[in-house]
Amino acid sequence: MSKPRVVLAYSGGLDTSVAIRWMQEHKGVDVVACAVDVGQGVDDLDEIRQRALDCGAVEAVVVDAKDEFATGFIAPALKANAMYMNKYPLVSALSRPLIVKHLVQTARDTGAVGVAHGSTGKGNDQVRFEVGTMCLAPDLETMAPIREWGLSRDAAIDYAAERGIPIPSMTKASPYSIDENAWGRTAECGELEDPWIAPPEDVYERSVAVADAPDEPEEVVIAFRGGLPTALDGRELGLNDLVQELDRRAGAHGVGRIDMIEDRLVGIKSREIYECPAAITLVTAHRDLEDLCLEQELADHKRVEEARYALLVYNGLWWGPLKGALDAFMEEASQYVNGEVRVQLFKGNATVVGRRSQDSGLYTYEMATYDAGDQFDQSLAEGFVKLWGLPLKTWAARQRDAGRDS
Ligand code: ARG
Repeated sequence: MSKPRVVLAYSGGLDTSVAIRWMQEHKGVDVVACAVDVGQGVDDLDEIRQRALDCGAVEAVVVDAKDEFATGFIAPALKANAMYMNKYPLVSALSRPLIVKHLVQTARDTGAVGVAHGSTGKGNDQVRFEVGTMCLAPDLETMAPIREWGLSRDAAIDYAAERGIPIPSMTKASPYSIDENAWGRTAECGELEDPWIAPPEDVYERSVAVADAPDEPEEVVIAFRGGLPTALDGRELGLNDLVQELDRRAGAHGVGRIDMIEDRLVGIKSREIYECPAAITLVTAHRDLEDLCLEQELADHKRVEEARYALLVYNGLWWGPLKGALDAFMEEASQYVNGEVRVQLFKGNATVVGRRSQDSGLYTYEMATYDAGDQFDQSLAEGFVKLWGLPLKTWAARQRDAGRDS
C-alpha cells in the first residue's frame, strides 16, 4: 500500500537531501521533492530533479518561477522600498511565500497530505513556510525535519554515507549557510557568528571588494513607469532580466554589500551578510524618483507604510490581509512615479546623480530658482511663517508667564 505523501521544499543541498530519507524512516511518508527556481543561479534544474530522485524521492518537481518571482514579489517590494530595519531588502523573506505557493500546488497535484521545509527552529524561514501554508492550505500538515531532528552537518554526512544516499559535491563544506535568489544573496554561520570579525572575502559571490572595483565610475540610466523599472540605458527589459543585468553591473563595482546585526522574529539577534547589488541600486534610484514625483503628504506617509510593509513581509505575513491592503496603497501611490534616474556605480556606491520626469515630476524650476525666472511670491512667506509659528509662540509665552524655564 502506498504511503501518504508529503511535498518537501528541496534545495539540492545536504540537509534537504538527507531529509528525504529521514522523513521516510521516521514519519512513514513518501517524499515528493519540489525545487523552485527563484533566480538562485542553479545551473541545472534537471540535475537537481535527478538528485532528489537518487536520494529517494518518489517524485521530483522543478518549477521555473523566475518571472513570477520578479513580477509578483520583487515588484511589490520595490514599490514599497521594502527594507527590514532600513537595511535588508528581504531577499529570503520574499522567496518563501512563493515557494510555499508552489509546494501547495504540488501537494494538490500529487495528492499529498502535507508540506515540509528544511529550516531550523532558530530562524524566520520556518515561520514564513508554516504561516504561509496555514493561509493557503490550512488542511495540509507541515513538517520540519531539520528542526525536529537537529542533526549536525557531520552527522548528516554520516547518515547519508550509512544509507548510500548520494551527496556528491555538496559534502565539500561551505562554512556558511547561504540562501540566494534574484533579489540577493544571504550568508550566515561560520566565522560570521563573531560580529566583531570583518566578513572574509570568500563570503561574497555577487560583488567585488571595493578595493578591487574599477577606478572609473560607470553610469546607468534606469527608466521607471508606475514605480517599476522598465529600461536600462534606453533598452527595454523585462523585470527579471533587468534585475539580473543590473545585479551584474552594480556588483562589478562592489555595490550592495550589507553587514548587519538583525533582529529575528524568534527573538535572536544575528549577524547577517547580504549581497544585493541590484536591489540596493534599484531602491536607491526608485526612492529618488519618488522624491521628484510624489506630493509631499503622500511621500511622507508612504515612508510610514513602507516600514510596516517590510516588517510584515519579514515576519511571514505575506498572504495576510494587511499585505493586500498595503499593496493597494503602494499601487495607488506609485501611479505617477514615471521618469529616469542616472545612477553612478563607483567603489561600492550607487549614487544618484540626476533624475527627470516628463509627465510626473513636481520639481518646478520657476518655484525653485533664485535666478531671474523666479515666480515664487516671497511676500506670501511672511504671513505663512507667522501662522506656522503661532502654536509655539503661544506655548512659549505661557511658559514665560508662569515663570517656567523653556
Ligand atoms: N536572516 C535572513 C532572513 O530571515 C536570511 C535567512 C536566510 N535563510 C537561510 N536559510 N540561510 O530573511
